[in-house]
Amino acid sequence: MEPSNKITKFAALSIVMERKIILTSDGSHTLFVPELEEHFHSVHGAIQESMHVFITNGLLNTSKPDICIFEVGFGTGLNALLTLANKGAKSVRYFSIEKYPLLPSEFEQLNFAKLLSGELQGQFQLMHQCEWNSPHIITPGFELTKLEADLTNFSFQDFPDFDLIYFDAFAPNKQGDMWAEDIFRNLSDHTNPRGIFVTYCAQGEVRRKLIRSGFEMQRIPGPPGKKQMLYGEKA
Ligand SMILES: C[S@@+](CC[C@H](N)C(=O)[O-])C[C@H]1O[C@@H](n2cnc3c(N)ncnc32)[C@H](O)[C@@H]1O
Repeated sequence: MEPSNKITKFAALSIVMERKIILTSDGSHTLFVPELEEHFHSVHGAIQESMHVFITNGLLNTSKPDICIFEVGFGTGLNALLTLANKGAKSVRYFSIEKYPLLPSEFEQLNFAKLLSGELQGQFQLMHQCEWNSPHIITPGFELTKLEADLTNFSFQDFPDFDLIYFDAFAPNKQGDMWAEDIFRNLSDHTNPRGIFVTYCAQGEVRRKLIRSGFEMQRIPGPPGKKQMLYGEKA
């Protein structure tokens, strides 16, 4: 039996939230936040969703051999792990922002690496254990910088321009301030021409904000259990 009863408390925005590890339909874990009634990933399959939204429609659509990725919400590290596992010959600089890092008691239980390939386990642990706010080579051609910070007041000033953005915040109806137009504009200002923006969200209001921020957006088919998602390119 998987550890579905493990609960961790962490302070968030003046309230106390809990995170609970649960199994999704493809056998991979995700976290559930009871106070938000929100999962980190689709209950139809965490790995399946991340592969579709961020890897198939994001990473595998980039053409440059050296790319710079910015992720909103490091969370479980699943998107970073899938990127490392699917980058092929590309060289990747991966930046990921997170306000509420997981605890070792949480990330040590996650079954992603075990399901994908046991060989990834060491790299997955290293991704979580490496220090915040400085770059680390996880494997040749994959450099990770985890930023322990709040996206809603973050400055991108000293960062390189991005080729790919994984926007993986909690849903707009749960954490609306993460989907603000000025955040999208900041990201757009730090994205290379034809740089890609992907998110699991397909909301019209989010799409319009992204268009006003300088991205050419389209709705494309979503992962199982979700009709559509958003794909964009910097104009
Ligand atoms: C939908 S989860 C996805 C996380 C991750 N991409 C994954 O696959 O596990 C959203 C993440 O955003 C983080 N988050 C929430 N508020 C934030 C903020 N203001 N700034 C940065 N990260 C935040 C949460 O802690 C959570 O890890």
